[in-house]
Amino acid sequence: MSTLRALVVAAALIGGAASAAETPHLGRPATPAEIQAVDISVPPDGSTLPKGSGTVAQGAVVFAQQCQVCHNAAGAGGPNDRLTGGVGSLTTDKPIKTVASFWPYATTVFDYVRRAMPWPAPQSLSNDDVYAVVAYLLSVDGIVPANARLDAKTLPLVKMPNREGFQSWADRYRPKTASR
Ligand code: HEC
Repeated sequence: MSTLRALVVAAALIGGAASAAETPHLGRPATPAEIQAVDISVPPDGSTLPKGSGTVAQGAVVFAQQCQVCHNAAGAGGPNDRLTGGVGSLTTDKPIKTVASFWPYATTVFDYVRRAMPWPAPQSLSNDDVYAVVAYLLSVDGIVPANARLDAKTLPLVKMPNREGFQSWADRYRPKTASR
């Protein structure tokens, strides 16, 4: 490094240190549109579910075109995760953990599929397609009827088979003999 260049760099560093207490003037506030694009969490109560709706019949088409290659017909599994079946198996010697048998909230299935699937192109589905494919998946085990249409109102009302199968950390570890 030339002496002149070294002096310039040193001056810049000293200048930087002197103004370290000020805001660094890096970046810019995210725009509302940018925040909206990543603000897609859906809690168990479904309170932030988007507009739109989808039927089991529409979902069967979405599933065949976008999901079946990895999850097999009707989500039976292979090469990737099994999504259906196994309901009631969790307390047996051969528990089969699937979306249908294990997941406590249908709203979480919506959140997960919208956020992460299809695996090669996450967040490429429309909200209508996500509602539809979730309806289809849940229909395979009769969790919703074959003529179901799911939307922001009806999806949170769906009761998953394992809804009561979880206990909270507090329930589990609260001292049983505690007296007050
Ligand atoms: C290219 C393969 C591929 C495609 C296509 C695909 N998935 Fe998946 N899927 C996966 C993999 C791999 C996982 C496991 C991801 C992990 O555990 O991190 C997964 C996991 C899931 C899960 C969670 C399963 C569980 O019990 O944890 C759901 C639900 C799901 N996929 C639904 C779908 C739906 C609906 C579609 C179509 C819209 C789809 N997937 C398309 C590969 C795929």
